[in-house]
Amino acid sequence: MGTHFILIGFMGAGKTTVGRCLSEMTGYPLLDTDQLIEEQAGMTVSRIFQVYGEEEFRRLETEIIRQLMERDGDWVLSAGGGMPLREENRKLLRQAGRVVYLKVSPGTVLNRLRGDTTRPLLQGGDVKEKVENLMDSRNPVYERTAHITVETDGRFPEDIAEEIVLKNG
Ligand code: S3P
Repeated sequence: MGTHFILIGFMGAGKTTVGRCLSEMTGYPLLDTDQLIEEQAGMTVSRIFQVYGEEEFRRLETEIIRQLMERDGDWVLSAGGGMPLREENRKLLRQAGRVVYLKVSPGTVLNRLRGDTTRPLLQGGDVKEKVENLMDSRNPVYERTAHITVETDGRFPEDIAEEIVLKNG
């Protein structure tokens, strides 16, 4: 098995941005579960939620992590924010590689995702309340899925990526 970095955390935590830095630093390709699901399903994440519902999307996430575990070589993975919600996924993620929780405050998420229309769980209603509630319930799940937790608020993605590499050594 190669070296695998798996970034988990809330929507807008910077998993893709930090993933890009990590990918540049290590030379490992960056993979993204949402993107892989969209490619295989031939439709956007929003559309999958709309047509088949969240449960089906979660099932597709499990399929993707299983596929990735079969894949040769090293990689960096940006995992969808809800990936660790399923017990099965938590186990698979920890088996698959080094799981890093990118911790972020609700304020940063709200700033970054203002006007976003691509995250079905944050559409309509009071977005602030949604982010706060979801984050409260997910924080402990992320914490116990991850091998390490990294605070990200107010930090450059390059520095976060460097910390991840150093902590892996
Ligand atoms: C979700 C996060 C999204 C995407 C989907 C559901 C979640 O990915 O998988 O909208 O439940 O937190 P990002 O974390 O990349 O935004």
